[in-house]
Amino acid sequence: MAEIRQKPQIVSEATEAQIAVHWREEEYYYPSAKFIGQANLTDPDVIERFSEKNFPECFREYADLLSWDKYWDTTLDTSDPPFWKWFVGGKINASYNCVDRHLANYKNKAALIFVPEPESEAPVAVTYRELYVRVNEFAALLRDFCGLKAGDRVTIHMPMVPELPITMLACARLGVVHSVVFGGFSGEACGTRAADSQSQVLITMDGYYRYGKLLDHKAGADIALEIAKKEGQTVDKVLVWRRHAGQNASATPFVKGRDFFVDEVLTKYKGQLVAPVPMDAEAPLFLMYTSGSTGKPKGCQHRTGGYLAYVTGTSKYIQDIHPEDVYWCMADIGWITGHSYIVYGPLALAATSVMYEGVPTYPDAGRVWRIAERLDVNIFHTSPTAIRMLRKSGHDEPDKYNYHFKHMTTVGEPIEPEVWRWYHETVGKGEAVIVDTWWQTENGGFLCSTKPALDPMKPGSAGPGMPGIYPVIIDENNQEVAAGSGKAGNICIRNPWPGIMQTIWGSHDRFVAQYYAKYCKNRNSKDWRDWPYFAADGAVLAADGYFRILGRVDDVINVAGHRLGTKEIESACLTVSEVAEAAVVPVADEIKGRVPEVYIALKPGVQPSQAIIDKVNKVIETMIGKIARPKHVHIVPDMPKTRSGKLMRRVLAALSNNMNTGDITTLANPDVVENIRELVQGKEAVALTDGPEDLKRFGTEE
Ligand code: WT7
Repeated sequence: MAEIRQKPQIVSEATEAQIAVHWREEEYYYPSAKFIGQANLTDPDVIERFSEKNFPECFREYADLLSWDKYWDTTLDTSDPPFWKWFVGGKINASYNCVDRHLANYKNKAALIFVPEPESEAPVAVTYRELYVRVNEFAALLRDFCGLKAGDRVTIHMPMVPELPITMLACARLGVVHSVVFGGFSGEACGTRAADSQSQVLITMDGYYRYGKLLDHKAGADIALEIAKKEGQTVDKVLVWRRHAGQNASATPFVKGRDFFVDEVLTKYKGQLVAPVPMDAEAPLFLMYTSGSTGKPKGCQHRTGGYLAYVTGTSKYIQDIHPEDVYWCMADIGWITGHSYIVYGPLALAATSVMYEGVPTYPDAGRVWRIAERLDVNIFHTSPTAIRMLRKSGHDEPDKYNYHFKHMTTVGEPIEPEVWRWYHETVGKGEAVIVDTWWQTENGGFLCSTKPALDPMKPGSAGPGMPGIYPVIIDENNQEVAAGSGKAGNICIRNPWPGIMQTIWGSHDRFVAQYYAKYCKNRNSKDWRDWPYFAADGAVLAADGYFRILGRVDDVINVAGHRLGTKEIESACLTVSEVAEAAVVPVADEIKGRVPEVYIALKPGVQPSQAIIDKVNKVIETMIGKIARPKHVHIVPDMPKTRSGKLMRRVLAALSNNMNTGDITTLANPDVVENIRELVQGKEAVALTDGPEDLKRFGTEE
């Protein structure tokens, strides 16, 4: 098997050093007087106002930032735990709140600024008035051409162009539930999600730019429809936006009567207005699919009123967005960060929200800072992976540009204090305040963060629970872990909040099992105090009340701040005919945090070959997307197993990360471990460590 052995994975010194640093208590950094002087949230009484004795009514403060068609009667209804209901009896429209209501004061102000990837194409500003016109026209098309009405689901598979938020807001105007699938996901991944949500309409785009190339994106639509059909769902209309007027970036032929260019159909709806439909606060606004512990992604269903209130409140107080700010969140709208903090939160506050089409380091490491300088961005929001990448490719690059951020966000993964300091000193020029916001797709908005003008920052720690959020760490024996004990455990949220998802689309039991079963104190109780929300993240709580997030405790891998289920990748591998067994484990990566690594065992009589490895790589890319590409694919003679035949992913994760494998004497085949070790690490003995918490825990619950 030696001939197909791949380069051994070596956890670099830098990563090890960063892990070590991560465990030290860090010093505080303080916001500047200048920042505090202009901040939205400077009243320390907020803690008292959002304390448990004022719960749940405290969240009226967020809901009151919105314009309601009908005010609600009950702030929180707990009659059917854990299916909490917020602002019950209220009626509201999200599109009205993000568009129409700003016309009086801000119609000529830019709502969106689109920055195309090619620098030869100038940025495009869409004013609130223009957004209003375009959302209305497209809503008319959705209603009259597609026959869509409140409650119907629509799948949107689009890149980062203004037509994406326009599409979402047009859906919201009608009460149509949008399900945006990240544009980088494959056509197949889009198809399974379209089927799960029973979408009859798919909205896509002909193409978009990435790394300087105009990609054919519409090709994925044909695959998506084929897959959806196999799963029993017929999508009968495909609407295709064009990247360039009058051109077609896709070579894929149109299917007559099924595929339509949006601009051609839109000519019939020019200037039309569609009254925003007053929706129940509890009506679903959108679905967002995310990976979990099974092979099938789950559709997180978010409500209209509570979600919008929560993202608006947190955008105002934690992102510190004022209408005069130029705010740039580098996430993709195809993830929850983009929904909450590019589209709904900022637009509800009449901000100017920047969207960038392409790769942050294209055509060079200065691109991001050129955009910031040109548009005079003053609030910047990105992930540790992007920060690590920008630091590596252009350590001093920010110094060359004349931009000034007042506020910066990091989200999606734990950030190493070293990297945090570069973000603060070099990117933020020592001026900007930083918030490290911890939350998840399921949560709608931030759960832990410092309050930017009120709390000091601590590199590597997200900070305390947000106003009205009461987090706690619980250990495996159901005991609360005390602050300052230094002990890690599972971070949970004791209370419901308006941004929490309603359920998993079509799977209420899974919703309860996944998030509430583990620590529920009494299944019959209607008291929210008996239903802590289990986040599936490990964390430590310092004596000062700051939470440091350690990473996932389940079989989800956080790749560059995006979630991938190991089971999803394993299912893809098993479709390769030569593969008998597959195991996917996380491996530490200096830039992306964690990446998947694949182990496969072949069917009897099949010889290992590079061709099989290529097939495995290919199938992962077509079934999920490039984002799931494994670091290595190892062909092993056998999988490490217990005597009862359980595959020990924990042992493989240890081998991939040069960690101690722990006790393996109880395995049915302990000898195979040495065999695999040599395959992965090489013949020479390598230095072993205990590894970080998430890798140590990986696979231990199997
Ligand atoms: C997982 C959720 C909604 C944010 C984007 C990702 C990790 C998120 C942080 C942070 C450390 C973080 C957690 C979480 N995570 N933010 N500030 N520090 N880890 O959303 O795809 O649903 O992933 O991202 O592990 O469970 P997601």
